[in-house]
Amino acid sequence: MKLNQLKQTFEEVFGRLADRIFFAPGRINLIGEHTDYNGGHVFPLAITFGTYALAAKREDDQLRFYSINFDKQGVIEGSLQGLEYKGTDGWTNYPKGMTKLIIEAGFPIDSGYDVLFYGNIPNGAGLSSSASIELATGVMLEGLFGLAIDRIEMVKIGQKVENDYIGVNSGIMDQFTIGMGKEGAAIWLDCETLEYEYAPIELPDASIVIMNTNKRRELASSKYNERRGECEEALSRLQKQVNVKSLGELTPEQFEQHRTAIGDAVLEKRAQHAVYENARTIEALDKLKEGDVEAVGQLMNESHRSLERDYEVTGKELDTLVYAAWEQPGVIGARMTGAGFGGCAIAIVKDENVESFIREVGNRYKEKCGIEAEFYMANIGGGARELMREEME
Ligand code: GLA
Repeated sequence: MKLNQLKQTFEEVFGRLADRIFFAPGRINLIGEHTDYNGGHVFPLAITFGTYALAAKREDDQLRFYSINFDKQGVIEGSLQGLEYKGTDGWTNYPKGMTKLIIEAGFPIDSGYDVLFYGNIPNGAGLSSSASIELATGVMLEGLFGLAIDRIEMVKIGQKVENDYIGVNSGIMDQFTIGMGKEGAAIWLDCETLEYEYAPIELPDASIVIMNTNKRRELASSKYNERRGECEEALSRLQKQVNVKSLGELTPEQFEQHRTAIGDAVLEKRAQHAVYENARTIEALDKLKEGDVEAVGQLMNESHRSLERDYEVTGKELDTLVYAAWEQPGVIGARMTGAGFGGCAIAIVKDENVESFIREVGNRYKEKCGIEAEFYMANIGGGARELMREEME
């Protein structure tokens, strides 16, 4: 959908013109999965798909929300006086929560607003559409009300909305990537200290392909919380022997030395994933800097195996896509991305092989899982921002 159409829809829905247009991307993660809440490293990047927010201030304290993606629900009304979470408010809880927590963080929002959202992130694909709408709302409020919100603070507010307001116990990766993304670069982030570095992704003859299982991510949040709990338990058992604050502080060597302290096979596997995945993510930065994309691909493959066997968050659909990808010519590496339990996988594929890759992996997946996979080329875009004139057409 073109921005002109979005502007026109805003006018039809609200009977006035939109003042400003904002955008927040979605994200994929190259490597470093289920490490963020374990105090480890992640290596994600912002993509050019995302959430558009067209907005205008109001004179009163009313809030009017409209989403082209949920157009059947029509305009949903709210007010600055009614920002509490309500299950029946559905998707508007995201912008409501962001508004509430930004006010609580001390930023004055002195009037209501009309906002239209449109997201072109494939639905339920695990590419962080919820963090995207949170940060789109964040930059919208910042722009409309002239607030000076430090970007990392906005990222943290987004995570707080997710954790405390929506009730999903996720880490910082998604909001950080979406708030801090940079065109052409992945973000190598230490989730314990929030120190980060941009790593340019230069793939002269290859591309990143996103493969969508198109499988609904059932039970994803309860399984996610279960894994978090298992890691916390493994950590507290390890802490009886070693003085560490998080699993991310342990090198594989230290882990091997103390792993028996965990005393439970399942918990040991979970912790093993967290520790080794963090080590792989640290290594991936070095390899990328050396221009050794093949080595990064190998690390991605190992990451998938670990997520399959030790962390057990892949499932038939993601495994089928990734196994099929590994068999194709021109594939440098492939793995699931995001929380798992359905959602998307990614592959780095030589450009000359992309066409046959998509065809072959798609066929194999259809045969085995009975679902059509979808494929998108990942372009690395910038973080949440107001769209400037030249970006508008
Ligand atoms: C989800 C969460 C992130 C992160 C990933 C797994 O995307 O929102 O915080 O934990 O899963 O790496």
